[in-house]
Amino acid sequence: MGNRITDLFGVQYPIIQAGMVWASGWRLASAVSNAGGLGIIGAGSMYPEVLREHIEKCKLATNKPFGVNVPMLYPDIEKLMEIIVELDVKIVFTSAGNPKTWTSYLKDKGITVVHVVSSVKFAQKAEEAGVDAIVAEGFEAGGHNGRDETTTLTLIPAVKEKISIPLIAAGGIATGRAMLAVMVLGADGVQVGSRFVASNEASSHPLFKQKVVEAGEGATQLTLKELAPVRLIKNKFYNDIQKAYADCATVEELKSLLGRARAKKGMFEGDLEEGELEIGQVAAIIHEIKPAAQIVMDIMTEFTHAKAEVKHL
Ligand SMILES: Cc1cc2nc3c(=O)[nH]c(=O)nc-3n(C[C@H](O)[C@H](O)[C@H](O)COP(=O)(O)O)c2cc1C
Repeated sequence: MGNRITDLFGVQYPIIQAGMVWASGWRLASAVSNAGGLGIIGAGSMYPEVLREHIEKCKLATNKPFGVNVPMLYPDIEKLMEIIVELDVKIVFTSAGNPKTWTSYLKDKGITVVHVVSSVKFAQKAEEAGVDAIVAEGFEAGGHNGRDETTTLTLIPAVKEKISIPLIAAGGIATGRAMLAVMVLGADGVQVGSRFVASNEASSHPLFKQKVVEAGEGATQLTLKELAPVRLIKNKFYNDIQKAYADCATVEELKSLLGRARAKKGMFEGDLEEGELEIGQVAAIIHEIKPAAQIVMDIMTEFTHAKAEVKHL
């Protein structure tokens, strides 16, 4: 299938595997790229030299296009960008920051730049900053998110109305039916996160993957809005946060509760009680850990069938 997103990235399907801390290393990114989607290495949890290793391994594992996601909160961001340029990465997704900061630097080096937003205002800012495409991520999504709680169903048509560059929908998309739905709303492609956490190739801890397939409706909540809003599974750590809120904790107290390396502890080391477990609402309909290529194929097959089905409506 061909459209603005497949043309922009040079891929077969407009399915982007989200860059995700502690989940998307070279194994997942190359598996998705080899299956015809766009695989993304999540640099947010990597030291610069670790990112170097992942890019080099990804290049050996696929000759298809792949990208790197760089959250702008990253403290040593200059070093990441130097490695990305040095290793000739062709596609960069930036998130969690001002799109003006890095877009022209990357574009000057011939890199395709995509920025992740959760509101119309920031989508317009990203377009003004010169990015090639936008990911609009709704409230359902796993990981860090906007404060406004705008759902994917509302966000996609609202962003579509105001921008003209290609639009990628994210948040709550794990199936071909959901992909069709957001494309009807105006998206040119989808960014899929949670579904790929429950894949064989994700670097997340097996216990976390198992927790994701067991998670039901209502298992997650967006919290820590005072720091950086994040959607988490309701485990002991989440309950500790709720208790801190009930005790009127200050921002400093919340910061110290969060501490360091909570996300690594939960998602990479598999501490399901004390760790931070980032996942989207859509975990409720993810029941199986599968190979990434199978996930891409399942989404495309369901998309094609659903498209034929809705002709009768
Ligand atoms: C475990 C996890 C880690 C994530 N880490 C990042 C990240 O490092 N950078 C980023 O831009 N988004 C991150 N996200 C958000 C995803 O990129 C994506 O937009 C989101 O997962 C889409 O919603 P979904 O989970 O409903 O598919 C993360 C999401 C999850 C589930």
